[in-house]
Amino acid sequence: MALYAIGDLHLGLGVDKPMDVFGPGWADHVRRLQDGFSQLTGEDLTVLCGDTSWGIDFRESLPDFQFIDALPGKKLILKGNHDYWWNTAAKMKRFFAENGITTIDILHNNCHFYGDYALCGTRGWFFEEDQKPHNEKVLAREVGRLEASLKLAAGRPILAFLHYPPLYEGYRCPEILRVLEQYGAERCFYGHLHGVTHRRAIQGLFGGVDYSLVSADWLRFVPKKICD
Ligand SMILES: [Fe+2]
Ligand SMILES: [Fe+2]
Repeated sequence: MALYAIGDLHLGLGVDKPMDVFGPGWADHVRRLQDGFSQLTGEDLTVLCGDTSWGIDFRESLPDFQFIDALPGKKLILKGNHDYWWNTAAKMKRFFAENGITTIDILHNNCHFYGDYALCGTRGWFFEEDQKPHNEKVLAREVGRLEASLKLAAGRPILAFLHYPPLYEGYRCPEILRVLEQYGAERCFYGHLHGVTHRRAIQGLFGGVDYSLVSADWLRFVPKKICD
């Protein structure tokens, strides 16, 4: 039994969205994901850190969730900026149940446990959001969601999962970093960065939290093992 993380599967099995237009790093990515997951067993848990499906609604994303469901182990999903299919937790759970999808649960406004660890997370916030109106409102909402999730850890050691990097070369999101540090998150995993932006990722210890980039193309489509 082991815990893994990987973000940005960017599946589009129900839509016409070839990923190799994003560069040779994405060539044949569905098969590579399948290979990457083949080392896992039914006992394992993988946190999927957002940008899971290109589908804009449940109908379009169903083939992607059937694909994920067939991969070994349980999966916890959080929201990415491209997850337009995302809905209320109740509707997502009903959608999974109605379609016989049994291995996927949601990390959103809640927290899950793995051994002694609390698994906390939310989508997060990134400077790209500055382009949009009401960015302060969006940031405050995400900070609130993260804090609510961290509170539910109730003293357990914390592993945090975000879609957006809370820090980046030349960028910090002080509000998110402060909350992670305040609650004593041991490690934080994030995705969203692709291709040439990988080189601007900040990984390792920062403010007492150990950060790791887990976007699928960075991991070459092999889930990152966190612990047994
Ligand atoms: Fe993203
Ligand atoms: Fe992405």
